[in-house]
Amino acid sequence: MCGIVGYIGPKQAAQFLIEGLKKLEYRGYDSAGIAVYDGSKINVEKSVGRLNVLEKKVEQIAPKGHVGIGHTRWATHGRPSDANSHPHTDCSGNFVVVHNGIIENYLHLKEKLIAKGHVFTSETDTEVLAHLVEEHYQGDFEAAVKKVLADVEGSYAMVFLSNYEPDKIICSKQDNPLVIGLGDGENFVASDIPAIINRTRKTYILSDGEMAIVTKDSVWVMNRQGVPVSKKVFEVHWDAEAAEKGGYEHFMIKEIYEQPKAIRETTAGRLAKDDSSIIFDELKWTKDDVAAIRKITIVACGTAYHAGIVGKYYLEQLARIPVEVDVASEFRYRSPLVDDKTLAIVISQSGETLDTLAALKEAKKLGARTLAITNVVGSSIAREADQVIYTQAGPEIAVASTKAYTTQLIGLLMVALYFAAFKGTLPEERIQAIIRGLKQLPSQAHEILEDVEAIKTFAKEYGFNEDVFFIGRSLDYAVALEGSLKLKEISYIHAEAYAAGELKHGTLALIIEGVPVIALATQRDVYEKTLSNIKEVKARDAVVIGIGMQGDEEIKKYVDHTILIPVTDKYLAPILAVIPLQLLAYYAAVTRGADVDKPRNLAKSVTVE
Ligand code: G6P
Repeated sequence: MCGIVGYIGPKQAAQFLIEGLKKLEYRGYDSAGIAVYDGSKINVEKSVGRLNVLEKKVEQIAPKGHVGIGHTRWATHGRPSDANSHPHTDCSGNFVVVHNGIIENYLHLKEKLIAKGHVFTSETDTEVLAHLVEEHYQGDFEAAVKKVLADVEGSYAMVFLSNYEPDKIICSKQDNPLVIGLGDGENFVASDIPAIINRTRKTYILSDGEMAIVTKDSVWVMNRQGVPVSKKVFEVHWDAEAAEKGGYEHFMIKEIYEQPKAIRETTAGRLAKDDSSIIFDELKWTKDDVAAIRKITIVACGTAYHAGIVGKYYLEQLARIPVEVDVASEFRYRSPLVDDKTLAIVISQSGETLDTLAALKEAKKLGARTLAITNVVGSSIAREADQVIYTQAGPEIAVASTKAYTTQLIGLLMVALYFAAFKGTLPEERIQAIIRGLKQLPSQAHEILEDVEAIKTFAKEYGFNEDVFFIGRSLDYAVALEGSLKLKEISYIHAEAYAAGELKHGTLALIIEGVPVIALATQRDVYEKTLSNIKEVKARDAVVIGIGMQGDEEIKKYVDHTILIPVTDKYLAPILAVIPLQLLAYYAAVTRGADVDKPRNLAKSVTVE
């Protein structure tokens, strides 16, 4: 976790550092700090709390200097506090460092350094980096950092600055992202592109094990042994506006409203004009390759995991391949039965979630073929997987994932149809019908977003309830899981999702008068059974909001309120049905005055285990 920035050039460094950190706050936001070299020494300013606390401090002090580094933190080792905030310094104050990741052998290193007389002032793993570079320094900053890299084990993106050689920033990465922005007479360092796109669109994306020496006029990239690496310039084509709120109150609602566009862009060029097939130019599968897949294992975290559960229905029902879905943090530790006949599909919006990345590496080690579905071009997961499908959702800033989820479902559905065509498991007309449905989705999603008054009213009415239940069968159950997560993470309402048929085996005991139950009933093949389950909760005086498809008059007889989505194919219903649930969670959180884009204790991109 954490966001990192660096600047070297003719302008005031502090200005860019704060501006860049603001764009990275989604990577962590429990404390922040900057270090700027003022011409004679490095001055560090840091404070616990949101970035605006630091920003006010910096406005007052107005640190002068043309080189600096900054950090926004999400605590791992050591609670959020001023002392634990980055940048961290060595004993002399001649070296400062910011770091994203975990130094796994830090305790061992710390003991050795303390024995040599180093005095630590924080509880962090990061501080060892500053003392190590001090320990190794013998007149050559670069050589000292190389020695630090040889000492440490773990994951990191780190950036160093020194009083001795203030004409350069030295950085390196392993398992955490780091990009260098190439300016004109100035250069930038950042964890992620949104931090720098207002300044430059030319970047180097560092790979694992690489180290860079960044001066105002040059960037030298080398491997850990010091062998130069020639990097290709990666041009960023994102619209700078796309990373900003653009008139909406929160990123989350903006991103909910971006779903029609995100769906359109994710399907663009991938649906044959005559609706006959899915086109994946980026995938190189043959009929024999697909026939050789005995099992698919889907691995992901959070919302992406919920997308994986929907993916299981898609791949099993359409392509008839057995699918297991695992939470990434569990996958590695259960001796998974994975071999060269397994396809591992990893799903990750950021492409940086450490648990998912580790699961991907494990699946590869066991011989599986790997396919990533991710939103971030050039991310660690994208680079590690054998093949990649990019969702085209654009940057997702709100911690609660919305447009990434819907586009992940589309990615999975297209993969299922692509495999189904090779395997001959679906009649051509069925493939065509689903593809026709996919083409209608953007306008149907738009239709839902045009009419949100009823949802706002429900959110106001039930937004202060302690508990909310979500029920559904089959694909509706998978969507219920995501609906309940959305509500929990941003409104802090206790929400639970149950397979509607399973309620009577325990959870029904919790249904009492007035408890809101959101019942999804979009799947015709289990519709009657879902209605029976709705009657069960109504009989216990629950307040039921039913989610069905337009034209469904039946459901209205049994529920208190209804939300009807446009008529679509059963496999596309999850993509539309989740939108009212996202809106409900959003307006409930707004009703409760919660910090929608930055829910407590959570972060957008979790790069620690
Ligand atoms: C964090 C976020 C979730 C997200 C999960 C996986 O926990 O708060 O919203 O679903 O990470 O992220 P990824 O980037 O791998 O999809």
